[in-house]
Amino acid sequence: MATPAHVAIIMDGNGRWAKARGLPRLAGHRAGVEALRQTVRAAPELGVSYLTVYAFSSENWSRPKSEVSDLMGLLKLFIRRDLAELHQNGVRVRVIGNKEGLQPDIRGLLQEAESLTAGNEALTLVIAFNYGGRDEIVRTARKLAEAVARGDMASDAITAESFAASLDTKSIPDPELVIRTSGELRLSNFLLWQAAYSELVFLPCYWPDFSREHLADALRDFAGRERRFGGLAARDVAL
Ligand code: IPE
Ligand code: IPE
Ligand code: MG
Repeated sequence: MATPAHVAIIMDGNGRWAKARGLPRLAGHRAGVEALRQTVRAAPELGVSYLTVYAFSSENWSRPKSEVSDLMGLLKLFIRRDLAELHQNGVRVRVIGNKEGLQPDIRGLLQEAESLTAGNEALTLVIAFNYGGRDEIVRTARKLAEAVARGDMASDAITAESFAASLDTKSIPDPELVIRTSGELRLSNFLLWQAAYSELVFLPCYWPDFSREHLADALRDFAGRERRFGGLAARDVAL
């Protein structure tokens, strides 16, 4: 059975999970962190090498100030509480997104997590924080334009390969599978470049209810997909 090396997840539905229980949205986000912990444990056991999670989008700043501050607080708490265990379990942490838009203490914690775990190999956990696909593409285009303007790069050296190698996700393979919970059927600015040929699985369950079984089911679903990348299926080539 083909297992994707890289699974990316849009962890959506924390607010609705909380609302359905008469709880504040923060309770949903807290429960979401627990679902994330379980998923990080399950992923390598199920044969996944890279797990990317969408934790805060470049558009999530438009939420009420108190919710933004709760989400920043939860990220800090997650790194402080879980970093030692992640490291012990061989998890390498990578962060994608616009770090310049983050408070210095959060940047410091993310940097610490990345450097401490840089040599680990059991699972690469990619945290998309203050991440937006368009923002990433624009920052990359600007970086390459500056290199050309300085004379460090010829404009015809800008190719799909060199562009990909300048994105936040450099050296991370594209996700074969993208999962979104909560029933919404959209990408919401997630991995726009990298998900060009990803298989998509949309689940009705809210993120805090996501379990190892949901991940295993999504992997089974993926194994049954036929990926063609614009070509033809092997059985149709001779026709
Ligand atoms: C996902 O849950 C978490 C973040 C976007 C940070 P939501 O907060 O979007 O929950 P819903 O979609 O309102 O239910
Ligand atoms: C996407 O969810 C972002 C994260 C899961 C971090 P949103 O809840 O922000 O997306 P929309 O607003 O429903 O498209
Ligand atoms: Mg949402």
